[in-house]
Amino acid sequence: MSRPKVYVTRKINAEALNLLKKDCEVISWTESSPVPREELLKNVSDVDALFCVITDKIDKELLDKAKKLKVLSTMSVGYDHLEIDEIKSRNIKVGYTPNILTDATAELTVALLLATSRRLLHANHAARTGDWTAWAPFWMCGQGLTGSTVGIVGFGRIGQEIGKRLKPFKVKRILYQNRSAKDQQAQEIGAERVSFDELLKESDFVIVTIALAPETAKMFNEDAFRKMKPTSVFINTSRGDVVDQDALIKALQNKTIWAAGLDVMTPEPLPLSSPLFKLDNCVILPHIGSATTDTRENMTLLTAKNIIAGLKNEKMPEELVL
Ligand code: DGY
Repeated sequence: MSRPKVYVTRKINAEALNLLKKDCEVISWTESSPVPREELLKNVSDVDALFCVITDKIDKELLDKAKKLKVLSTMSVGYDHLEIDEIKSRNIKVGYTPNILTDATAELTVALLLATSRRLLHANHAARTGDWTAWAPFWMCGQGLTGSTVGIVGFGRIGQEIGKRLKPFKVKRILYQNRSAKDQQAQEIGAERVSFDELLKESDFVIVTIALAPETAKMFNEDAFRKMKPTSVFINTSRGDVVDQDALIKALQNKTIWAAGLDVMTPEPLPLSSPLFKLDNCVILPHIGSATTDTRENMTLLTAKNIIAGLKNEKMPEELVL
């Protein structure tokens, strides 16, 4: 009997590739750079399963070509690159990688918050370029966490882990905004559920971990930034499109807010001509929230396991059920 065919859209580690090869015929894009769209469309026509990443848009055009596709597994917790309605209407099973990247992403969010609030990159640049002339009482001062109010927008697994990690920094209050109440988890962390407006008004640090969906797109707009404190620090490690980026640029230029730390933006990679790169009060990272070697290895393995189980009609370790 012929083995099911899987297309892998990126160069991945040998362990995950070998796992797939035990049960499947594997064809893989062998570069770390994204597979060109034409190449992807050409390759999906006879595959049973697809191993994809966040830069592969899985839309109607692709699905119309992938007539035999039964299982789709994305190496990500986010799935805004998947046209879910089109996928579901074709009864294709979807796997994803929640949980295993929670710690790495929470850790990176805290690192980005500290880098932004204590101006680490700006200060490092000053030290390297001769701008550091002498110690001075108010030079390179930032915003501290002690006694502050932290607002977390999106209080899922990642938001909760960020809350836990920030508590030891002696923050006074942790506020959260979430579609549903997370009473038990909030109690453990000592977090209070508030409205979006209240969170914006009260928080010294606004941290975004909410998933991108039609109702969250551009929720951080001019109006939202105007409600925030002029001393506030805005941190986004979810998706760039939850922010109206032009409004954020204006808010940073006009000092409506104090600073922003972004691991995600629109588009990615951010063009070098973006005004965000010209701002001293903006720290930009290239979407590395889950980027620890262990986490990424676990993500490729889970993506492969989802495919194998899905193809065997067994329970997938992490099926995306919507
Ligand atoms: C995800 O998993 O959705 C991240 O954005 C990439 O790790």
